[in-house]
Amino acid sequence: MSAPLAIERDGSIAVIVIDHPPVNALAHRLRTALLAAIERLDADPTVQAIVLHGAGRNFIAGADISEFDQPAQPPLLNELLFRLESCAKPVIAALHGAALGGGAETALACHYRAATADLKLGFPEVTLGLLPGAGGTVRLPRVAGWQASIELMTGGKPVDRERAVALGVVDHRIEGEARAGAVAWARELVAAGAAPRRLRELPAPDASPELFAAARAALPAAAGRLPAPGRIVDSLEASATRPFEQALDRARELFEECRRSSESRALRYLFFAERGSSADRDAALRVDSAGVIGAGTMGAGIAISLATAGIAVTIVDSKPESLAAGLARVASTIEGSALKGRMTAADAAAAVARVRGAGDLQALAAVDLVIEAVFENLAVKQELFAQLGKLCKPQAVLATNTSTLDVDAIAAASGRAVDVAGMHFFSPAHVMRLVEIIRGRESSRATLATLRAVTRRIGKIGVTVGNCYGFVGNRMLYAYGREKELMLLEGSTPEAIDRALEEFGMAMGPNAVGDLAGLDIGYQARRQWSERPDDPRFYRVSDRLAELGRYGQKSGRGFYRYDGPDRKRQPDPEVLELIRTEAKILGVAQRKIANTEIVERCICALANEGARILEEGIAASPADIDVIWCNGYGFPRHRGGPMFHADTIGLATVVEAMRRFGGEQGARYWTPAPLLASLAEREGTFAGWQAGRAGGD
Ligand code: 3HC
Repeated sequence: MSAPLAIERDGSIAVIVIDHPPVNALAHRLRTALLAAIERLDADPTVQAIVLHGAGRNFIAGADISEFDQPAQPPLLNELLFRLESCAKPVIAALHGAALGGGAETALACHYRAATADLKLGFPEVTLGLLPGAGGTVRLPRVAGWQASIELMTGGKPVDRERAVALGVVDHRIEGEARAGAVAWARELVAAGAAPRRLRELPAPDASPELFAAARAALPAAAGRLPAPGRIVDSLEASATRPFEQALDRARELFEECRRSSESRALRYLFFAERGSSADRDAALRVDSAGVIGAGTMGAGIAISLATAGIAVTIVDSKPESLAAGLARVASTIEGSALKGRMTAADAAAAVARVRGAGDLQALAAVDLVIEAVFENLAVKQELFAQLGKLCKPQAVLATNTSTLDVDAIAAASGRAVDVAGMHFFSPAHVMRLVEIIRGRESSRATLATLRAVTRRIGKIGVTVGNCYGFVGNRMLYAYGREKELMLLEGSTPEAIDRALEEFGMAMGPNAVGDLAGLDIGYQARRQWSERPDDPRFYRVSDRLAELGRYGQKSGRGFYRYDGPDRKRQPDPEVLELIRTEAKILGVAQRKIANTEIVERCICALANEGARILEEGIAASPADIDVIWCNGYGFPRHRGGPMFHADTIGLATVVEAMRRFGGEQGARYWTPAPLLASLAEREGTFAGWQAGRAGGD
């Protein structure tokens, strides 16, 4: 393993080049080497100034998150940075790329900060359930003030160089390369006799206690359930009321408290799970152009994602009016992003110019990738793929955006199944980050690697899954939805179920989600499902509502009514009556159902279906399932996903609850999957099972 840093000399300027790929994270070995380098250079009389530079694309991306499962090994980052700041000669941070978390804290411990235009400086700790624990909460307010510190740290979003200059965090702009620019400036500082400038020697700005009370009150409601945002405010308040070193100690204590929390464990787990594997990146084919078939909401959303990432897109739709509407939607959405400041007007214009329309499939003869997004009908999709198989150039990758249909049946129709796979986007496709990439029986490694690479390029998270009805996400959704539908018949109400699951942390309750997605959509999908459970209770309430034309928000009525002035969901007595009538017809006795039962039944159903999906090899790991549920279905991130959550509460507890439900309601839906039962018996976890499999590879 090569050394994590090198010391280079440029006359009397010493440059510490941190070279710790992939992102210069401050792992134990780097901290140790950095401390030794600082001691050595501080004592060297021939050195007049020290430049701290990060090799590669970033300055420093923060602490090494993979070390947080264990207590930190000395030297601790806050101690190292205290020593760095104590240097008797000027220390200059050469900032470029990411200076995040511990990286931003390192910059603040330096005496001067110079930055190139690509700087992204910020404190994303809150997204990991943490707070800046190495002095950020104590040093940043001394230069940027309280309000900016509260916003940066509780929001977690990085700022660009110009904002960092405005905040007083960056003192000098570098127009060329970071290292050379910082060395040149260091020389100027030395010539001007500049002394070390330590933020810890500045007084903390005045702050009233009301400021922090207001900051706590302003935290978003969801943040109120998590420890980190409140702890960040606590730490900043300690910086206002205590001397520097005591405030630093308090930050460390609060950091440790957060690090040990189950919320932070879950969020750190997701950080790595979402990055997935980089194993086959080199097998991906080059994609410069793509075709999207179908100019509906889904097709337009996919085209927006591709075009804004620099890929030329041809949208094909045989109906001229649909095509025109789709192209208009693409243009207005991209231009809207520019108006909201999410991209520059020039980038928006370039993205819009990358999209063109065509009425005929022949326009896709030369594209590198085709994504089909027509309505869910197997015969229609097969007919399309038969044509694509003939007209697309060899090796063009052909993807279907089906959410439930058999990818192998679609691939077979193309006559070139190696080039075909599924690419299941979630609606709205330009907003939702998840894409399920469905591996067909014959999909080639290059086909799958290409779809994974495109997914990454358009800023989304791709999870590769096997081919079965509903794949991973929707298959589990059926188990989850089945329980909430049964509980409606058994005496609960749409709002009681939604409230219980929203309190658990789901972004939206399942009945509200159904109304948003359109109850007719699910109804149609279930009608085409040949293996639908033979149970008259299965989705009975949803089906009846759809048959009555209550499609949800779009028709103004579904599980709820939406006819108030703000179109907010409101309970509807007619729905309660309908549920009571259906329960009577089916002979289901109604009772009061507690919130705990609502949550337990839905969660146990998810974990059990997830276990089956793992046994069948449809998902490669429990982490993949968790990434799908947290990014596509609104599962609370701070609980890590259904499989991580099941591990956290204990698989024996899950199985015991399932047996209890089985005793009350019959074993039909409550037989634990063999994998779940055997892990519960051995007091095992899904994570441990996965680690054992990976070890055996
Ligand atoms: N620790 C450990 N590994 C990290 C890491 C970190 N802080 N940041 C990134 N990595 C790893 C990723 O897991 C990935 O590994 P892989 O190649 O094996 O999959 C690799 O580095 C590359 O990461 P990305 O795929 O994310 O690369 P990008 O180029 O897309 O993004 C980045 C680069 C913007 C730096 C992004 O990685 C990032 O945002 N990193 C995390 C930043 C962060 O959260 N920092 C705060 C850490 S907590 C902290 O500092 C506490 C302190 O206050 C004490």
